Amino acid sequence: MNSQAKPRILFSRQEIEAAVKRLAAEVRKDYQDKNPLLIGILKGSFMFMADLIRLLDFPLEVEFIRLSSYGRGKESSGKVKVVQGLRSQVRGREVLVIEDIVDTGLSVAFLLDYLRKKKPASLRLCALTDKPSRRQTPVAIDYLGFTVPDKFLVGYGLDWDEKFRNLPDICFVE
Ligand code: IMP
Ligand code: MG
Repeated sequence: MNSQAKPRILFSRQEIEAAVKRLAAEVRKDYQDKNPLLIGILKGSFMFMADLIRLLDFPLEVEFIRLSSYGRGKESSGKVKVVQGLRSQVRGREVLVIEDIVDTGLSVAFLLDYLRKKKPASLRLCALTDKPSRRQTPVAIDYLGFTVPDKFLVGYGLDWDEKFRNLPDICFVE
């Protein structure tokens, strides 16, 4: 892939909207009287989080956490670290983690482990996309938007080298 790479659409904005609506209905059913704490993983989840919570018409709180994996380019190194942490208490909360993509699974597996130690009342994962062909560690996704092929995705928050996050569709680059 070179810097001239032209992203091609995998899921259009209309398909994303329909998927987010479906996920919001599932989340609403499970959390409407629980004042959940939604924790988005930066940066990739920001757009998904913004669209999802606009469809949730009940009390909830939003947090963000930033992880680094010391990877270069498209490969994650597998050594994950929290580089920007949480301000909210997790203990006793109904926690829902919001992620853009589960690829090797190493980042989210690390984060779920990290949060579990803080003793939430419950802990679940909502992922916009899942790339199961790349998995290195098992991850249970409770709410899933799309299963995706082994292609590098950009757009709707996802980046390649910090570029293309602003594309309104989920695209792939080759
Ligand atoms: P994992 O730890 O390999 O599951 O992936 C962690 C992070 O890598 C995700 O949260 C994304 O930010 C990034 N990532 C993985 N696959 C892609 C992709 O296809 N496009 C853009 N970012 C990706
Ligand atoms: Mg990323």
